Amino acid sequence: MTMRYMPDAGRLYGSQYARDPQAVYADLRRRHGAVAPVEIAPGINAHLVIGYGAALEVLTNVGGLWSKNPSAWQARLPDTPEVAGALAMLGYRPTALFTDGAEHARYRKVISDCFQLVQPHKLRRMVTEVSDSLIARFAAKGEADLATDFARPIPVRVFNLLFGRPDSDSVELSEALSAMMEATGEAGARGSDAFSRYMNELVQAKYAQRGDDLTSWIIDHPAGLQNEELTQAIVLVVAASFDPMANLISNTISRMVSDDRYYSSLTNGALSTYDALMEALRAEPAIANFGPYFVRQPVHFHGTWIQPAELVLVSYAAANTEPTGIPEEMRSDGGAYLGFGAGPHRCPASDPAVLIAMTAIERLTSHLCDLELTVPREELPWRPGPFHRSLERLPVRFTPIRPDQPGDSPWAAHSPSAPTSPAGPAGYATSGPWSS
Ligand code: HEM
Repeated sequence: MTMRYMPDAGRLYGSQYARDPQAVYADLRRRHGAVAPVEIAPGINAHLVIGYGAALEVLTNVGGLWSKNPSAWQARLPDTPEVAGALAMLGYRPTALFTDGAEHARYRKVISDCFQLVQPHKLRRMVTEVSDSLIARFAAKGEADLATDFARPIPVRVFNLLFGRPDSDSVELSEALSAMMEATGEAGARGSDAFSRYMNELVQAKYAQRGDDLTSWIIDHPAGLQNEELTQAIVLVVAASFDPMANLISNTISRMVSDDRYYSSLTNGALSTYDALMEALRAEPAIANFGPYFVRQPVHFHGTWIQPAELVLVSYAAANTEPTGIPEEMRSDGGAYLGFGAGPHRCPASDPAVLIAMTAIERLTSHLCDLELTVPREELPWRPGPFHRSLERLPVRFTPIRPDQPGDSPWAAHSPSAPTSPAGPAGYATSGPWSS
């Protein structure tokens, strides 16, 4: 039953959960073991898989016992504002995320094939240009909110370019997405309209004239996605990349500037950006609990009966941090984590995601080498929400640098808003991918 009252369910909403989700997971683990009852919003229940082994069982048995299709679950939900909010994230759409078997393979292949065409050195150059132009806006001030001024704009601007739109269009995209995420009522609806407008213009422009960009590759992919499928594939790339990318960048920086092992790495190379990124993916994954799965038949799973039409969420955050009793320094699995999921639905874009985050953070720390938090890390504000681990703000200070300083500086960089070829940003192109 989806809406029944569960007195001992953990709450994945509200300020207490946002402040310290690990305390909630620890309490659930103590009371329930590997699978625990939770509410993702008032009255919306789920089973949260918090054991590492149990999580792997779910993720790798999709297609067998487990399914990604939420249709049976959502058919039984009442019509309430909370449910509408949950369905915006969890409701069925014809995409890789909500399908199984051959249908899933077809949708997924479009995305993974198209990301294969993104050339790493060109993506690195694009992220470098975008990062430098953002850093140039605050470098002379000596302080910044790196969540708002840096991490959040990066995926919007980079993906707008990857989609084959001029950098100037990222302003419209960014405003639309902020309104959709932060606002309700009329402002939220205006944001949603603006996002639909961006998507329509994007697809129409690329239908009219193909370029060497993600949108054109998706349109021309041999899988032949049609209308709704095509739009949904691009919307999935937006939804799956923007918030998680921004959070991965912020969460990693917040660790680097508050932990001596990394802080000193900025000057003496003790631990690298890559180490910090891997630690963030393990201990505080950007996608904390957004692993929706469903059983095909009733099952007794790690002590809990689960029925078809009940929502199961794999908690990457809780599974990754399950106490093993083995001291960290003795673990030989150092990098074992589920930050990008596992099994058939594992993130198909983890390599570009790591490249984008690494490049952005390294630009930041190479220009501003004495970043420090203005408040202790424990006091940083986190955005509420059951699915993500997302900093509201990341306030830092640093020694300001000025445009006229000698040597390498963010101002010396090239502007990504410089005129591009009609096909997309200059120098990014490959050509005719599906004809060769
Ligand atoms: C370059 C940006 C990214 C893109 C385009 C992207 C795209 C996707 C897509 C399309 C899926 C669905 C795959 C499927 O169901 O077969 C997915 C799954 C996933 N992604 Fe990403 N992603 C990006 C970045 C990230 C980041 C930064 C994280 C976390 C740090 C992340 C974590 C995950 C996880 C955990 C899943 C599995 C969800 C599940 O089990 O249902 N992704 N991603």
